[in-house]
Amino acid sequence: MISDKLQQAINEQIKAEEESSRLYLAMASWCDANGYAGAASFLFVHATEEREHALKLLHYVNDRDGHAKIMALEEPKIEWPSLQAVFEQVLEHEIMVTGLINNLVEIAFTEKDFNTYNFLQWYVMEQVEEESLVRGILDKFKLIEGEKGGLFHIDKELGDMAAAAEATAAGE
Ligand SMILES: [Fe+2]
Ligand SMILES: [Fe+2]
Repeated sequence: MISDKLQQAINEQIKAEEESSRLYLAMASWCDANGYAGAASFLFVHATEEREHALKLLHYVNDRDGHAKIMALEEPKIEWPSLQAVFEQVLEHEIMVTGLINNLVEIAFTEKDFNTYNFLQWYVMEQVEEESLVRGILDKFKLIEGEKGGLFHIDKELGDMAAAAEATAAGE
């Protein structure tokens, strides 16, 4: 059985993953409303992934004889000054989540809950992948230096990435 301390910390993480999902949903909606269809698709896919991160934690807690509690969520931001600003916030948010995951790993380790410690390694790697993905996207923004045609290509590329991610998910 999972300890109360660890259960509470994972429940907080479920909330954080749900908030990530809602933040990306709000970003997707902003992109959609501002003519960035590709970026919108990318962020809709990402919002779904974050919800899956929350669900995976929820099932884990309950599988360990605990009780995953669903909490009230913060209202996400809904406006951004530019597409680049959206992705800058995605990176900032992911770095914050990486810190939360590392904190959870530390609790699991000090509580000597090695099942949870192992389970959390998936999240550790996921954070490495997500941060790297977003840094790659921000590099493209630096290359185009705000040029409109370049922005069009970034949006298209994000749409292609979303389509590829959806195809992989459907094939699983
Ligand atoms: Fe996540
Ligand atoms: Fe994430």
